Amino acid sequence: MPKSILILGACGQIGTELTYTLRERYGNDQVIASDIREGDKDLMASGPFELLDATNYGALEDVVMHYEIDEVYLMAAMLSATAEKFPMRAWNLNMNSLFNVLNLAKDNKISKIFWPSSIAVFGPNTPKEQTAQNTIMEPSTVYGISKQTGERWCEYYFKKYGVDVRSVRYPGLISHKTLPGGGTTDYAVEIYHKALSDKEYTSFLGEDSKLPMMFMDDAIRATITIMESAPEKIKVRSSYNLAAMSFTPKEMAENIKKHIPDFKMSYAPDSRQQIADSWPSSIDDSVAQKDWGWKAEFDLDRTTQEMLDNLSK
Ligand SMILES: NC(=O)c1ccc[n+]([C@@H]2O[C@H](COP(=O)([O-])OP(=O)(O)OC[C@H]3O[C@@H](n4cnc5c(N)ncnc54)[C@H](O)[C@@H]3O)[C@@H](O)[C@H]2O)c1
Repeated sequence: MPKSILILGACGQIGTELTYTLRERYGNDQVIASDIREGDKDLMASGPFELLDATNYGALEDVVMHYEIDEVYLMAAMLSATAEKFPMRAWNLNMNSLFNVLNLAKDNKISKIFWPSSIAVFGPNTPKEQTAQNTIMEPSTVYGISKQTGERWCEYYFKKYGVDVRSVRYPGLISHKTLPGGGTTDYAVEIYHKALSDKEYTSFLGEDSKLPMMFMDDAIRATITIMESAPEKIKVRSSYNLAAMSFTPKEMAENIKKHIPDFKMSYAPDSRQQIADSWPSSIDDSVAQKDWGWKAEFDLDRTTQEMLDNLSK
């Protein structure tokens, strides 16, 4: 029997592309997309979809039983910038959805879980350059606290109940198919849209805010690679550091100018600057490289080329 996969939060920035890629790999009917809202037309037409609130255990269990689900990818969450506005809602969504999925696995109703963590688990006291897999972790945002707590619970469920949960700490993600959902690195996607439509962009982060970033194709490949790796290779059951590139808004603007020479960038940092200041500038992902063979393929030049080519179609 081919395995059945359920994606929670499938209509978001990552969920949309993950749904397409998993459907290509395992077959459209084997991958059930779900979200609290409908996604774009193409996604809805590409295979089965369920309107589902990931915080509702009963409804989630019904869908898992109905489709005889083996694996769950939990992509529903409230992201960093939005979570600062609604701390309790963020905590409830980010933690309860995770407990629901962990408990389904603990009760042997599903066999494997993917749950993403984030570079937001680190905080202002963490060494900023080449941040190590194991280091000081004192997150200062609601989102970061929820991700760090989530990591602890994932490791606990693995050790205590043998739950096969796998996780990576995504950096800021850059994609052209779906807009980002309220994070601190959203500027790195908006900038390409504005460069093409208006030839100018005002960044909500200052010109020297260097942050770790990744092109979506790399993020999806990392997600599927860790999920398909033999269980003994996954030695870290909290979450793996993952890296591809690091750059500042100013460096990004210079990179876009190679393609659009009259592109103009200005800067008006807002409340998201404080979140960015608490995060690492670059990440050491050598543990993921060693354990399950991770290696990023997209640098800034290649990302800019892909973004501008696809958005101008
Ligand atoms: N995008 C990034 O740069 C980034 C970086 C680090 C980590 N992550 C993590 O990856 C995951 C996916 O992020 P994303 O960027 O795709 O987020 P997103 O905001 O684009 O998408 C989240 C989706 O979850 C859905 N959702 C919200 N509440 C729900 C609920 N109660 N039940 C079911 N669905 C619900 C939303 O409708 C949305 O479609 C999150 O855990 C996020 O923290 C993302």
